[in-house]
Amino acid sequence: MLHVPGAAELLRTSLLHMSDSKTLAGWFTRNPAGRHLSERFVAGETLDSAIAAVRELNAGGIRASLDHLGEAVTNPAEAMKAADSYLVILDRLRETGVNSNVSLKLTQMGLDVSQMLCLENLLRVLDKAREVGNFVRIDMESSRHTEDTLRIFEHVWGRGYTNCGIVLQAYLYRTERDVEWAIELGCRVRLCKGAYAEPPSIAFPEKRDVDANYVRLARRLLDGGNFPAMATHDLRIIRQVAGWRPDPNSFEFQMLYGVRPDLQRQLVTLGWGMRAYVPFGSDWYAYFMRRLAERPANLLFFLSQLVHPNGQS
Ligand code: FDA
Repeated sequence: MLHVPGAAELLRTSLLHMSDSKTLAGWFTRNPAGRHLSERFVAGETLDSAIAAVRELNAGGIRASLDHLGEAVTNPAEAMKAADSYLVILDRLRETGVNSNVSLKLTQMGLDVSQMLCLENLLRVLDKAREVGNFVRIDMESSRHTEDTLRIFEHVWGRGYTNCGIVLQAYLYRTERDVEWAIELGCRVRLCKGAYAEPPSIAFPEKRDVDANYVRLARRLLDGGNFPAMATHDLRIIRQVAGWRPDPNSFEFQMLYGVRPDLQRQLVTLGWGMRAYVPFGSDWYAYFMRRLAERPANLLFFLSQLVHPNGQS
């Protein structure tokens, strides 16, 4: 059936396309209002500020996953620098003893430059994580990278690097198969809905179908998976998952830093495991645009702040 996008979907898709623009990235990241607003979703530009945010979360019983923002790297030196930054982060996590693992993107490790470079960088990070007894989550990016990401993951897993996990996106038709593959492998999966603009030929165009698929896949992962992570802020889905009465030690909920912090705390109070995804760094534009695209109210707030930076109307 022909899918005709509504206004909200057109807005979401436009914002996601804008997230790829280097020109807009430069403008936004220099704009004081942009920088100020990014603080809602980004735990500062330095590792120190990110560690401070993790300490605060930990004090409330929330674990963390640190993401040093960056993606779509096109130059080998930059990719190596990104991997180096994760070595520093992992050392700092050990020194400080805070409860946090790390999340990274393969295009940040150089996937768009060459698979070999990406693999070498990833292995350096995995070796360091192994040395300090920590865990690396490989984020999932747009469908252009899905297959490569899963094959690289499978490769390192086969080489004995079981200190890493993958992310699968409920909006892709293929994910049902990928969930079975991950269960077979025995690896940890973070299940999310998916944050990129994808065509209806490969992804459910209707939100209600994405949500229904999320619930199906969540059930399958809770029944057969290895410590899955339910990454969503969707209260309806969270209630459904909790209603299945899974063992709280067999999985965790995950949410993004700055999104529904009230709900994050509430779930901890109820005895559920909770991990917040904590991004930091100066390369926040694309991440920030995806957060705007997820919720039109964020965009309205952002635009009002650009016009009236001090909140005067
Ligand atoms: P949905 O979009 O239906 O939102 C449900 C409710 O949550 C909203 O009504 C609103 O109240 C709140 N909400 C959601 N997003 C918000 C926002 N930006 N601002 C304010 N409120 C918001 N995606 C991906 O493609 N690859 C990845 O690797 C990851 N990794 C990842 C890690 C973690 C820990 C999380 C929580 C999410 C991701 N995502 C991701 C993003 C994910 O795919 C998805 O885009 C967002 O989580 C939004 O979807 P929800 O499941 O929250 O539901």
